[in-house]
Amino acid sequence: MLSRRVLQQRISAVRRGLSRVDAAAVVFGLSTNMRYLTGFIDEPGERMLVLVVPRDGDPTLIVPELYANQVRAREPDCTLRVWADGDDPTLIVRDVARELETQTGRVLLDDTLWTAIALPVQQAFAGREAGLASEVMTELRMRKTLEEVECMQRAGEITDRALEDALSLPIVGQTEIELARRLESAMLDGGANGIAFETLVAAGPNSALPHYRAGNRRIEPGEVVIMDFGCRIEGYCSDITRTVVCGEVAPDIDNAYAAVRKAHATARDRAKRGVPAQEVDRAARNVLAEAGYGEAFCHRTGHGVGLDVHEPPYIVEGNSTRLEPGMAFSIEPGAYFPGSFGVRLEDVVIVTEGGAKPMTEAPRELRAVE
Ligand code: CO
Ligand code: CO
Repeated sequence: MLSRRVLQQRISAVRRGLSRVDAAAVVFGLSTNMRYLTGFIDEPGERMLVLVVPRDGDPTLIVPELYANQVRAREPDCTLRVWADGDDPTLIVRDVARELETQTGRVLLDDTLWTAIALPVQQAFAGREAGLASEVMTELRMRKTLEEVECMQRAGEITDRALEDALSLPIVGQTEIELARRLESAMLDGGANGIAFETLVAAGPNSALPHYRAGNRRIEPGEVVIMDFGCRIEGYCSDITRTVVCGEVAPDIDNAYAAVRKAHATARDRAKRGVPAQEVDRAARNVLAEAGYGEAFCHRTGHGVGLDVHEPPYIVEGNSTRLEPGMAFSIEPGAYFPGSFGVRLEDVVIVTEGGAKPMTEAPRELRAVE
């Protein structure tokens, strides 16, 4: 549970951000930003529930009546404006916008705000240029506090154990979906608050599709199986990928995996304070290119992880953001051969003064399983 003090500090940091980027206010919907700033969690929906944080003055939370008691119980540090089903909540937004008339600058909108909510909000702030909330939020959320890192570490430990649990039974003969469900229930039984994203289990030729989910294909002897999964602790995600082979490992699979593993280790060594994010991507890419797998590595090396599974910093060419202690991101090189097989190795690491420390420690060699 987030303390009142932490939430107040975060709102103050948002205000400083608004001054820095010359914006009058920022409007958040039901999103991970809302969770980060208020502790309030729900799926985004069609009802307007938005938090308006002005550069100067108190934040206003505009809430549908059915949420009102839930929100009041949290004693939030903001003005509550409640509307009932049948009312027009945009009138309240216009009111709030009018109160901010004397403040100059743009209005920032939550990056994931539904267009059906974003458009009327933007109209209420008529005449102001719009921008994205990430202009102020990225800075804040990219560096994790000790408390945030602890949640991610716990999620990582549960994830490691779930893999061992799932592999303690033969996987040949199971469908991809059955193996995915096994991983998910092991994480939930292990204490996770939820899964971080739909578990990906890709067997045989499906493993050549980096974002294939899981289907009804039965796992057969000799096949490669990629498992990419994660869970949440207090909203914070884990994200791991391990590749296994059922039975004998064919040389082409072994060679590709050896290059991916080397790319993973090289990228992790490069991930130190002060190094631009794109250098970590280059480190992985160079290893794979030298081994002849340049074409087979068809995605960026990684993505930041936190309350969102994918968030800044992205480990990709063109991102010159310098790594700093507290930044958490995945390192996940892979090699994919359409119609045949694919391999990938992924861990989330946290940048520390002593280098990048992985959140997951499941064995990284290419495992032969039954
Ligand atoms: Co993943
Ligand atoms: Co990932």
